[in-house]
Parts: sequence; structure tokens; C-alpha cells
Amino acid sequence: MKKITAFIGSARKKSTYQAIQEFEKNFKQYDEFDFEYVFLSEYHLEFCQGCKLCFDRGEECCPLKDDRNILLEKMEHSDGVIFATPNYAFQVSARMKNFFDRFAYILHRPRFFGKTFTAIVTQGIFGGNDILKYLERMGANFGFYVTKGSCVSTLEPMTELQQEKLKQEIKKSSEKFYKGLIRSTPATPSFFRLMLFRMTRTSIQSFDVRYFDYYYYRDKGWFESDYYYDTSIGPIKKFMGCFFDFCGRKMVKHK
Ligand SMILES: Cc1cc2nc3c(=O)[nH]c(=O)nc-3n(C[C@H](O)[C@H](O)[C@H](O)COP(=O)(O)O)c2cc1C
Repeated sequence: MKKITAFIGSARKKSTYQAIQEFEKNFKQYDEFDFEYVFLSEYHLEFCQGCKLCFDRGEECCPLKDDRNILLEKMEHSDGVIFATPNYAFQVSARMKNFFDRFAYILHRPRFFGKTFTAIVTQGIFGGNDILKYLERMGANFGFYVTKGSCVSTLEPMTELQQEKLKQEIKKSSEKFYKGLIRSTPATPSFFRLMLFRMTRTSIQSFDVRYFDYYYYRDKGWFESDYYYDTSIGPIKKFMGCFFDFCGRKMVKHK
């Protein structure tokens, strides 16, 4: 049975929770899934101190001892992941931001390929669409296959019309997520993602000091591969890949 985990940035069992429950309800119409709700407020996660040891020497060197690895395992053992947060002052909640800071090393060393991702933002009135884009970008940079999420208005007390709108929004995003979850072939990268991969690896290769990223890329075979994972990218993207390598080398030279 496939496993889906929702990481929730609200400490309340209110609007964000209800939106995810609606998502789960929709989802269970398609198939049986193991669905877990992870309230970040129930886990002990210290604030990042900014030492950068996770970047330079590896995440195991982080001096903070808390529940970070429990949360990591939950992502690793999921087929699908949801990041859900209320809009707090035009941003994700502080809990969710801290969760991202603690996993920022994954932006250097992405890993969740083959897993599907979506995001849910709840808000009073305004600002949530930018947060949704931010969450979707985080998902993509962690390596997930991202499907379009939803931003829903939950101004209390909710009118019937608002509730209907929420249901429709959530229904659309749950359908997309489901399609992502059952797809059989790995996603082909966009030109932008291909460029990011090729130029990042060129700069990692060029550093005089061998940081942890270098060994991660080397051990994954990423210095030789077309992309992070096996996928048929076709002749045009193959050509563009070589072009991005060339641009990366030029940029490194002129640093
Ligand atoms: C500290 C705080 C800041 C908020 N800032 C915004 C905001 O900038 N824009 C907005 O539309 N709603 C804002 N809201 C409203 C919440 O996003 C909204 O009520 C949300 O649905 C609450 O989710 P919850 O019930 O899961 O806690 C804010 C709420 C709080 C508590």
C-alpha cells in the first residue's frame, strides 16, 4: 500500500488540518492509502545555528540533537509527501520555515526522486499564492515530482460558498497528486531543471576544497550522468545539456 505523509506547519487542529482531511477524503476514493498526519509542533526541532557543517561536512555533523532524523525517515518512507501550512504574515509558519532550514542540505544534495509532492496553503485573505509557489519550489529542489497544490481561503466563520470553493480546489489538487503518484515513467526534466543540475555539478567539480557535495555527486555517478536519475531526455535536451556544461565551465573560469 502506498504511503502519503502530510507535514503540517500549524499547531492547531483547525483550518489546515481540515483542508488535509478533505484532501485525504478525496484521495481515498481512488485507492487505499496509508495516510499520516505529522504536526511539526509535536516534534522537537531546534533552530538552525548556521554553522554550515551539514553543507560542508555532511548532515551527520550537525551539532543539534533532536527529531530531525525522525522527520527525514518519514519523508524517505513515503511515496507521496504534502507540505501544508497556514499563511503567517505572507510566509509559511515559523515551524515550517525552521523545518526547511534544518533540511537545507537537501537543497544541495537532492534525493526524493520518484516520490510525488504537493502543497496546501490556508489563509485569511491574501498572500498565499506566493507561499504556494515557494513550497512547490522547495519540493522540486528536494527532488520530488511536484504536482500543482492549492491555496484556500478559510476566513472564519466560513460561508457555505467558501466551503464549496475549498472542496473544489482541494479536489483538483488531489486528482493531480494521484496521477503523479501512479505514473509509471520517471518525469523528464524541464530545460530549467536540466540547466540547474548541469551547472551545479560543474561548479561542485571545480572547487579547490572537496566539500561533502563533491563526494555525494561522485558516489551517485552524477558527474557523468545526463541527469540525477535515468530518464530519456531526447537529442535536443542532450545537446542543451552539453551546452549547459560548457556555460558552467565558462562561468567557473571567470569567477
Ligand atoms: C500570526 C498569524 C499571521 C497571519 N497572517 C496572515 C496573512 O498574512 N495573510 C492571510 O491571508 N492570513 C493570515 N493569517 C490567517 C491564517 O493564515 C488563517 O487563519 C489560517 O487558515 C490558519 O490556519 P490554522 O487554522 O490551521 O491555524 C494569519 C494568522 C496568524 C495566526
